[in-house]
Amino acid sequence: MEPEKNSRRGLKLCCIITTLVVFIVVVVFVILFFTILKPKQAKVITQSVTLEHIKWVPLPFHLNVTLGVTVTVENPNHGSFKFQNSTAYATYRGVEAASAPIEADTIPARANHDISTTVLVVADKLVSNPDFGADLASGCINFTTSVTLHGKVTALKFLKTKATVYGSCDVSLYYLAENLTSVCWSSIKY
Ligand SMILES: *[C@@H]1O[C@H](CO)[C@@H](O)[C@H](O)[C@H]1NC(C)=O
Ligand SMILES: *[C@@H]1O[C@H](CO)[C@@H](O)[C@H](O)[C@H]1NC(C)=O
Ligand SMILES: *[C@@H]1O[C@H](CO)[C@@H](O)[C@H](O)[C@H]1NC(C)=O
Ligand SMILES: *[C@@H]1O[C@H](CO)[C@@H](O)[C@H](O)[C@H]1NC(C)=O
Repeated sequence: MEPEKNSRRGLKLCCIITTLVVFIVVVVFVILFFTILKPKQAKVITQSVTLEHIKWVPLPFHLNVTLGVTVTVENPNHGSFKFQNSTAYATYRGVEAASAPIEADTIPARANHDISTTVLVVADKLVSNPDFGADLASGCINFTTSVTLHGKVTALKFLKTKATVYGSCDVSLYYLAENLTSVCWSSIKY
């Protein structure tokens, strides 16, 4: 009778200890996950469009504009943020005027990183647009630039979160003064 009781008690103790250890491990992991390892929201901190180059001739009319498009993304995670290859677009009155590739890139852990490209708009292609003449006469040509970056935040090898960065800017190009102004929007979706 006695040895059986002892072994049963031993089994019970073993069970309790095992459960306790598993519980502690789970709690520690959950705390780690929700503090250090949890994928945090990345942020677009700046986005800008600059006039890299402009050249135009009045007759016959030719206009080439190179726009520099930069998106600065802040990655607050303890893991890297990897982007796939992408494309930046410039549209004129809703019609694609130019595009440029953005190469796949990695934002290191806890860092800010510029993702940039240049878009060459050859305005000869826009001349057929019925509104182009009036815009040209006003000296101000409006473009919209847009960038979409599909990526993944990797906290540990197995903790991955998909994230997509959207950015767009309304650009007013004053081709006579050879300058531009821009207003930008951006967001990140998970
Ligand atoms: C505009 O760029 C195109 C393509 O690069 C080139 O063929 C053309 O000569 C350029 N025009 C001007 C006015 O610079
Ligand atoms: C991304 O672009 C680079 C350069 O254009 C190319 O070499 C690479 O194969 C592309 N990667 C993917 C996954 O398409
Ligand atoms: C171009 O954009 C500017 C600034 O947003 C705006 O004031 C202007 O009316 C626009 N021009 C045209 C022709 O849409
Ligand atoms: C661009 O040129 C226009 C026309 O000369 C001027 O009104 C405007 O202030 C200039 N903008 C910038 C950012 O220099």
